[in-house]
Amino acid sequence: MIQYDPINVEIHINIEEYKSPDELSVDEQHLIDRAIQTARDAYAPYSEFRVGASLLLDNGTFVNGNNQENAAQPDGLCAERVAIFAANAMHPESPVKMMAIAAVYQDKLLDQPVYPCGSCRQALLESENRFNQPVRILMYGMAGIHVVNSIKDLLPLSFDSSFLKSK
Ligand code: THU
Repeated sequence: MIQYDPINVEIHINIEEYKSPDELSVDEQHLIDRAIQTARDAYAPYSEFRVGASLLLDNGTFVNGNNQENAAQPDGLCAERVAIFAANAMHPESPVKMMAIAAVYQDKLLDQPVYPCGSCRQALLESENRFNQPVRILMYGMAGIHVVNSIKDLLPLSFDSSFLKSK
């Protein structure tokens, strides 16, 4: 049997790392504060894992979302999608400029940055593509903050509408 050597494709993603919110702009610190506050208001009696996502839109509006759980467990929704869908529903003309995410588990803020799940990444990609504008995403943890300048850094090799048009 012939053994072929594959071509290795490397993908470069860019993540900024900060030790504390003090290293970020005032707007960004404010957005993180809002994400922490809104995480505490999540409805998560089953997992006790409360996530807050706060958005700043291009038109200057803030929109918050937090996870909403359900006794029929798959029927709940993550904080990020609650926030994006609410923003896009209420302000369909305004791109999302920035999103901050924070989480509280059993009343304690998480040490490590919180990353959006796969489905939320896909929803963020749709929103970026819809407005043709990248979203800066601040993922907060008490020990550090990770920031990307586009969802494409969290979702390389993604599926988007271009596939639906290809033959
Ligand atoms: N959750 C979010 O809200 N966002 C994420 O990015 C990850 C997970 C929620 C879903 C569920 O209510 C709880 O966290 C535990 O998975």
